[in-house]
Amino acid sequence: MKIPLASSGLRDVDIEAAIATLKSGELTMGEKVKAFESAMAIYLGKKYFVMMNSGSSANLAMVEALLRPTKGQPLLAPGDGVLVPAIAWPTTIWPIVQLGLSPIFVDVDFDTAALDLKKAQERLKDSSSVIKAIFPIHPLGYSIDNDRLESFASKNGLTLINDVCESLGSWRKGSHAGSSGLASSFSFYFSHHITTMEGGGVATDSLDLADDLRSIRSHGWSRDRTDIRDWNTGSTSTDQKFLFVTAGFNIRPMEIQAAIGKMQLADIDLFIERRRSIAVKIRDFLKDTRFELMDGGSLSGSDEESAHSWMLLAIKITGPQAELLRKPILERLNSLEIETRPILTGNFLEQPAIHRIQRNLPNSHEFPVASKISQTCFMVSAHHDLADDQVHYLAKSLRAVALQFE
Ligand SMILES: Cc1ncc(COP(=O)(O)O)c(C=O)c1O
Repeated sequence: MKIPLASSGLRDVDIEAAIATLKSGELTMGEKVKAFESAMAIYLGKKYFVMMNSGSSANLAMVEALLRPTKGQPLLAPGDGVLVPAIAWPTTIWPIVQLGLSPIFVDVDFDTAALDLKKAQERLKDSSSVIKAIFPIHPLGYSIDNDRLESFASKNGLTLINDVCESLGSWRKGSHAGSSGLASSFSFYFSHHITTMEGGGVATDSLDLADDLRSIRSHGWSRDRTDIRDWNTGSTSTDQKFLFVTAGFNIRPMEIQAAIGKMQLADIDLFIERRRSIAVKIRDFLKDTRFELMDGGSLSGSDEESAHSWMLLAIKITGPQAELLRKPILERLNSLEIETRPILTGNFLEQPAIHRIQRNLPNSHEFPVASKISQTCFMVSAHHDLADDQVHYLAKSLRAVALQFE
């Protein structure tokens, strides 16, 4: 029985909504995107949500907005340092590099794979760069404590932006992951908690930032801004419908994506509950073995205001020789048709691209926890599309493999 890491997540109702949208002839960004944005803002408890064509684009637009705001002083200038986790997704890091900033890598916490704030404090002391921002990832459905992030950022005079692309539907003390700080990015890539096939966006309470993001996603255009009248002074010979107010990209979403997103968002609680029940079953099957579900302890909490949203299941190989056993364990799981993958990309400092592009980076060995996670952990699916017999097969097989490698 195959246990793929990803699944389309599209149901008949989503496909019907997509077909109706195609037939309507309304294809490029319009009313359906606006409706989805409102629904997302309500869900997240934020004032604004600006949809884009991917989570990667959301990260790019957020960083661009901090460098070249149309109102007020820039919060970042070229050359500034931005604290990021050593276990990262490439497109958390690339906007920083591509827009002339410096990623300052920080080791992560072994229990959650999230940026370790104690180590971030040390980096602030020993780094020679001027560090102006912190850009943590809320990894794999885990929400970093928003209050801790906020107080860390304000104590150190840093701008806080969050990458929540893996943790839609993750709550802590009644606040959604990434609720503190200036803005947070989300992804609706296929196989995530909800899907728009490709898609993403930024949530923020700042109207100025939301307006800038609307321009940045659409060539720098003034069209979708709420303050369009302030720009349309009529004092130039420029056609006021073709007024460009900042540097931009074309990273707009399509109506078809928003139509699907609206249907999906209506059922997000069901999807996350299903993911949680899969995590519970796997945790229970792994009892008294050398496999341990990362952040599995959070499943015992009875606090209804906090919930891990289980993007994938990260499994730690515990006990002696875990590093040596990871490869044969993965081979065994793959032979059982259980697809596996590393925790995000593993220790990002081990990726060739970052050293080729960015000079004077610390060696990957300076991030021992990120390396340990890369060398002793792996992930399997927690997708809500998995059928009961697939979940049972996954749980049983993981237990059998763990016992075989005792
Ligand atoms: C932490 C993180 N950031 C950003 C992204 C990029 O999102 P997208 O695939 O929508 O571009 C991902 C992808 O899953 C991710 O895991």
